[in-house]
Amino acid sequence: MNFHFAPVQGHTDAPYRHFHAMTYGCDTSYYTPFIRLERGELRQRDIKDFTSPLNGESGVVPQIIFRDPEELTSLVRLMKENGASAINLNMGCPFPLQTGHGRGAATVANPIVAECVERVVNENPDIDFSVKMRLGFSDPDEWRNLLPHLNNCRLSHVAVHPRVARQQYGGDLYYDRFATILSESANPVIFNGEIHTPDDIRNILDKFPGVAGIMIARGLLGRPSLVAEYLSGEEWPREKRIGLMEQFHRRLLDYYTDTLCGENQLISKIKPFWEYAEAEIGRKPWKCIKKATNIAKYHSAVAMIS
Ligand SMILES: Cc1cc2nc3c(=O)[nH]c(=O)nc-3n(C[C@H](O)[C@H](O)[C@H](O)COP(=O)(O)O)c2cc1C
Repeated sequence: MNFHFAPVQGHTDAPYRHFHAMTYGCDTSYYTPFIRLERGELRQRDIKDFTSPLNGESGVVPQIIFRDPEELTSLVRLMKENGASAINLNMGCPFPLQTGHGRGAATVANPIVAECVERVVNENPDIDFSVKMRLGFSDPDEWRNLLPHLNNCRLSHVAVHPRVARQQYGGDLYYDRFATILSESANPVIFNGEIHTPDDIRNILDKFPGVAGIMIARGLLGRPSLVAEYLSGEEWPREKRIGLMEQFHRRLLDYYTDTLCGENQLISKIKPFWEYAEAEIGRKPWKCIKKATNIAKYHSAVAMIS
């Protein structure tokens, strides 16, 4: 059973991953938010994130997003040139800007991309590939075309968020489709979706005993102790959770104070880190953090939490 911190654009960049690991010290795999081609090249900021010394010894798995064989093969080549030994393939992003160009969840039903994924994985045995996918773009059975190709290659896992792109980040999860993928996949399958408490983790493991791991995005952003709590065998008292959470956010603040220029940049960088924490910290402090226009107001808002 492995735990994975799902990639989230604008949140889980190198400093965030580093200070999360430092504060909670648990055995969680980390991924970069998706890396895409821009005019045929990698963006400097993506290379910087993926090669950051903050990634430490355990490293980070870079995730790529692509729309056709050309983009997929170019990205794999460029990632290898930049030292990647593992690559995660994004076949689940629902952002219209990506799906509108045929990337992310729009690749699930694309037979040309499916064949190319199979070929690229088999032609690059030196790379540890994994896939992160949705069930499809609008039909929850689109994955049926993709899975046979994934079964023809060796992947370290297939992480499934059992929704279609049309649902974005809300609506019912298709647990029945997840169960079918779990039984039909030749590769280990990881569950991703709406895990917010240690009990949610237990429920998924009870429901799907064959699952190889759990991947969490918003649940961990809002309650960064979630996996550490589960692994410790008990839910932590609120005081302990909040104490560590403040320490984690303090480390992020200190880091960005040293690296960013000016209060405006700083405040707009650190406030969103609390975006998914309303249930954990309470509505009032959460709203005050959101409204804070300078660092003094940010500190007063954070002080309201405990
Ligand atoms: C703002 C935002 C940005 C995201 N960025 C990425 C991304 O770069 N790559 C990716 O595979 N998934 C991305 N996701 C999806 C999450 O990794 C995850 O699959 C999704 O939120 C469902 O899991 P959850 O219910 O645990 O949040 C993003 C989600 C959100 C809300």
